[in-house]
Amino acid sequence: MKFSTAQSTALSLPFALAESRRRIDAALDQYSRFDAGCPERLGEAIRYCLLAPGKRLRPTLVLWAAEACGCSVEAALPAACAVEMVHTYSLVHDDLPAMDDDDLRRGRATCHKVYGEANAILVGDALQALAFEVLAAGIRPAEKAVACIATLAHAAGATALVGGQADDLARQTAENDLPPRDRPQRDRPSLDLAALESIHERKTGAMFHASLRLGGLIAAADPRRQAALEAFGRKLGLAFQIIDDLLDVEGEEAAVGKRLGKDSNRGKLTFPAVLGLDESRRYARQTIDEAVAALAPLAPADERLASMARFVLERNQ
Ligand code: IPE
Ligand code: IPE
Ligand code: MG
Ligand code: MG
Ligand code: MG
Repeated sequence: MKFSTAQSTALSLPFALAESRRRIDAALDQYSRFDAGCPERLGEAIRYCLLAPGKRLRPTLVLWAAEACGCSVEAALPAACAVEMVHTYSLVHDDLPAMDDDDLRRGRATCHKVYGEANAILVGDALQALAFEVLAAGIRPAEKAVACIATLAHAAGATALVGGQADDLARQTAENDLPPRDRPQRDRPSLDLAALESIHERKTGAMFHASLRLGGLIAAADPRRQAALEAFGRKLGLAFQIIDDLLDVEGEEAAVGKRLGKDSNRGKLTFPAVLGLDESRRYARQTIDEAVAALAPLAPADERLASMARFVLERNQ
């Protein structure tokens, strides 16, 4: 049987993802072997979270963006791991009782359920610091390391990931504190949609954007390719969180590895809540199409990133 390039890329995506995961997991394992200053239980908790079976999509995007612009995977691996460290810290804190209060993550008990809340906070603190240590030590020349550090710091900060998380929680808390008759009526969907996109672009989209940007920076991509990677990252990140919202409504817990059906109980502002299921699915598809279209300047090296985008749309985990 003969396959077109697009078909063979689609067929080989699971293998390419598995290979990427293997490399990233091996590097994360090395980076999280701490020496004597790290208390044993803290080190164990960090490794429990960091080495848990995540999909490793963000670090894979760093590697594939760099490769699409002619750079080796080895050169991009420290940045890929740094992104996964910040992402994992954000999950550990997102699950805390003061935030989403979840007990299942990556198919396992959440960090605070196993190691206690204080340790879970400290795991997040340590992972965030480690990410920047890895970038500072692993990227050369030094100017490139500084650019990578600035990119990740911005994506993790108050105007991006943390800001999005704060607005996600503020919205939910404010509404749940009101008696039901006083809760805002959903008769201004366009306003809700703008607020929702802004939350999703910051709490989730920023780390996808940073992943693609880091890959391009490490490969010293020309401005056209760099812009293409970043436009792709923005769209992909938004679509990723739309699908996450959909999976919370219609996914399967065993596949997703976290508790589902919780967003609506908490009054979260989600895509299904604002647009409904069908329109959310259509919007995710449209956003993925736009993401793939943005990759045109990278052709023919765009295939694997494009197949990753289609995977994000069709994922059930
Ligand atoms: C979960 O991200 C958090 C969101 C931004 C929705 P992933 O679904 O990529 O989580 P892991 O890393 O595979 O566990
Ligand atoms: C989390 O969004 C985004 C970050 C962790 C920054 P969610 O709260 O929807 O993620 P899940 O569903 O718990 O993975
Ligand atoms: Mg959350
Ligand atoms: Mg959550
Ligand atoms: Mg979610």
